[in-house]
Amino acid sequence: MTQRQILVTAALPYANGPIHIGHLVEYVQTDIWVRFQKLRGHRCIYICADDTHGTAIMISAKEQGVSEEQYIERMHAEHQRDFAGFDIQFDNYGSTHSQENRQLCEQFWASIRKAGLVKEENIEQLYDPQAETFLADRFVRGTCPKCHATDQPGDNCSVCGHHYSPTELIDPISKISGATPQVRQAPHLFIQLRQLHEFLDEWTQGGDHLQPEVANYLKGHFLHEPLRDWDISRPAPYFGFEIPDSPGNYWYVWFDAPIGYMASTRQWCDAHGEDFADWWQNEQTEVHHFIGKDIQYFHCLFWPAMLKTAGFNLPTKIHIHGFLTVGGAKMSKSTGTFVMAATYLKHLDPAYLRYYYASKLTPRVDDLDLNLDELVTKVNADLVGKVVNLASRTAKFVAGSGLSAAYPDDKGLFQYAAGKGEEIAEAYEQCDYNRAMRLVMELADRANPYVEAAEPWKLAKDPDRAAQLQDVCTVALNLFRQLAIYLAPVLPRLASQTGDLLGQPIRHWNESRSPLVACQVNKFQHMMKRVEPKQVQAMIEQSKETAASGPVGSFPDSGDPLAAEPLAPEITFEDFVKVDLRVARVVAAESVPDARKLLKLTLSLGGDERRTVFAGIKSAYAPEDLVGRLVVCAANLAPRKMKFGVSQGMVIASGSGGKEVFLLSPDEGALPGQRVH
Ligand code: 2FM
Ligand code: ZN
Repeated sequence: MTQRQILVTAALPYANGPIHIGHLVEYVQTDIWVRFQKLRGHRCIYICADDTHGTAIMISAKEQGVSEEQYIERMHAEHQRDFAGFDIQFDNYGSTHSQENRQLCEQFWASIRKAGLVKEENIEQLYDPQAETFLADRFVRGTCPKCHATDQPGDNCSVCGHHYSPTELIDPISKISGATPQVRQAPHLFIQLRQLHEFLDEWTQGGDHLQPEVANYLKGHFLHEPLRDWDISRPAPYFGFEIPDSPGNYWYVWFDAPIGYMASTRQWCDAHGEDFADWWQNEQTEVHHFIGKDIQYFHCLFWPAMLKTAGFNLPTKIHIHGFLTVGGAKMSKSTGTFVMAATYLKHLDPAYLRYYYASKLTPRVDDLDLNLDELVTKVNADLVGKVVNLASRTAKFVAGSGLSAAYPDDKGLFQYAAGKGEEIAEAYEQCDYNRAMRLVMELADRANPYVEAAEPWKLAKDPDRAAQLQDVCTVALNLFRQLAIYLAPVLPRLASQTGDLLGQPIRHWNESRSPLVACQVNKFQHMMKRVEPKQVQAMIEQSKETAASGPVGSFPDSGDPLAAEPLAPEITFEDFVKVDLRVARVVAAESVPDARKLLKLTLSLGGDERRTVFAGIKSAYAPEDLVGRLVVCAANLAPRKMKFGVSQGMVIASGSGGKEVFLLSPDEGALPGQRVH
């Protein structure tokens, strides 16, 4: 067989949230395919990275009071930990926020400019004056201009379905700061895709690069009319790469994200002494992208257009899968089916989910349903009951003697299973893992009756039948090993345990063709436990708790206050201690007659220390209620001259103003003048 050179990618996960079981459908599917190719002896690399740019990440970083770089670095570590926990083995896991990516983006951009595909146009967009940023559609809400339904998203109405531009919304509100956005004009850069229409028509409709339903969808939704120009720039502030010949403008995240596939490949090439061009500018190299159906538009139209213009390999195939549902419904936080990868791993073996997903995946774009009861049954019946059982019931009897010197007569079982190897391989190749798993389980169904009929546990009791026992176990362990080889892409741990048991690591698919003889058998180590439904239940319960321990518990909560008022930039401890906060007692309080909001407070900081402070709390507190109570005072603020006198500090309160003001008070026992730290 000629050796293929294959570069495989899975979509780059956004760096603004943890990996969950929905993501894993894709990363597991891709990992299986890569492991399969490697086992067949091909040169194959699995490339991925975090997708780190854009508004969502800016907002998340701000909410957490860290820089974007700090935020994405933390996510990068978490994502890699979660993937490794599921035995997803990337050859390189990069980041789109890398030097390699910036440099490649510049290279793409130069080619696209040179091809005359870029045009500039002023567009109107909503701008949040408080957060000082332009607002992507999903960060705006308002009243639908058609049916007047309130609280609708920025692009289309969930009540009447009307599509509009966010600038048409009535009473728009920024989801970032709660401010009323302004309509502002800014120049944007567009790629004129229509110039590549003919090429995209040909590439998507012929050549077997896409599943037939995808090709039809693209034709029916996009390619039946002139392609629209693609807006690929965003004005500052934006977390991304600044466009070199358009200062103040940044590439839109979807421009640099797919280029991230190549940047991550370049890192791998540099680390392994490989030639980058050999992977991305070599017709002999196959490029396979695995993605979800929600992003086919970017990968099947924009991305080939960019690659074509910049002179790189076009994808050999884009493999598109559907979404995950759990128990027939969308994953949901309140029912505990929105399960994070890390939560799953606290309760269950990753092999269970890998096998379950494999048993469900087909080459079609259909959604995949995870039925947790079915997962329990499948794993227990197939993996524990039919596969691992072959070894656990026989290995112990030959741990001393090893396997027979010649392969015994097994009535053709081994040969039959060896003959199925290419059919199983073809199913993997086509991403029809459902079929591959069925074929493997059919073989397991043929092997088990052999062991049951031979009853090695009875033979073991009769010393005169030791040779027969050794033969039976030799057959059983070879049939087991064959299955472990066929399942190795899905269950890498089982494959390596099998290698340990028989003292021969599984390295190649074709090892399924010849039985092992006369080899040692090591002590059987436990391989896979049955799944207990209560473990699944515990995982669901914990997922509910994790969701609930977010902002909303059983106490009143303001929903998402950090989004309404994002955290201020990080300060150092030294910055913090500059503010001298003191416990103070209100010794006198009076209303300021001509001021709508102000009370004049006299505070004692202990002894004879007095401060006069004007506080905007009139609508929330009556002066007489304040006298005698303790408050917290910012005591080293520079005195501020006001219309009614000089304010010598500030009392600390929360709330948005009006009646919504809440003075902070220290717990019982605090004394005026004490410092608050
Ligand atoms: O949809 C997503 O999650 C994107 N972060 C996928 C990017 S894939 C590639 F283009 F980078
Ligand atoms: Zn409407």
